[in-house]
Amino acid sequence: MLFNEKKPVGGTFLDLERAKKWDDRSTKLESNHLEKVKDIASKLKLTPESIVADLGCGSGFFTIELAGYCKKVFAIDISPIMLELLNGKLLINGISNIACYNKGILEYLSEHESNDLDALILQVSFHHLPDFWKNVAIYHMARILKPDGRVFLSDVIFSFPVSDYKECFKEMIDFIRLKGDDGLTKDTENHLLEEYSTFDWIIEGMFQKNGFKMISKDKKSSTYSDYIFQK
Ligand SMILES: C[S@@+](CC[C@H](N)C(=O)[O-])C[C@H]1O[C@@H](n2cnc3c(N)ncnc32)[C@H](O)[C@@H]1O
Repeated sequence: MLFNEKKPVGGTFLDLERAKKWDDRSTKLESNHLEKVKDIASKLKLTPESIVADLGCGSGFFTIELAGYCKKVFAIDISPIMLELLNGKLLINGISNIACYNKGILEYLSEHESNDLDALILQVSFHHLPDFWKNVAIYHMARILKPDGRVFLSDVIFSFPVSDYKECFKEMIDFIRLKGDDGLTKDTENHLLEEYSTFDWIIEGMFQKNGFKMISKDKKSSTYSDYIFQK
């Protein structure tokens, strides 16, 4: 029995228009993503022998760069359209070490039998799972990573006292509005109302309870953080 990942709440990426918008936005809004991927690769201690899974990889904005640092990347996403966009890029660029799977995060993690993965990436995707299922996912992450394997988690994660939620949400939406993309502002509002972002102490607690050590936390704002956890 598993949470139905194929019926996501909030903004989904199951139609071509929305998938393309995400892809365009990533290119426009992320000015330093090459540096970012280099930094992630170093924090994950990737080597040319590493095997990695990018969970909720989307159209592969990070996956493609990441593949340059490892032997193999399993690119996992519930959206066939996102994977089609990614596959197109793989063909154009002649990249052969990324294998795409149209699967949910939980589905992939729970089906994977051996502990042969060096690292897992969750870039703005983990908030699609409710907390109970995040915990189940983390349990499986611990099971399928090699000893000392690492997880990179980057997402909307709340690190403010609950009493401040109105101000913090307003600050977040005002910050996004400054980027001048009305669709993104609307998506952010929907995210806060419908999707499953949660508090930092819940995320950190779930990783700790499943035997992970927090290697680093990069708090970008009171509503966004990057983490590295190690098994
Ligand atoms: C906001 S996009 C981020 C994509 C990519 N990681 C990036 O940084 O560009 C979130 C992605 O997660 C996927 N997704 C949502 N829920 C998922 C689930 N349960 N399992 C796998 N993928 C999921 C969506 O289809 C979408 O492609």
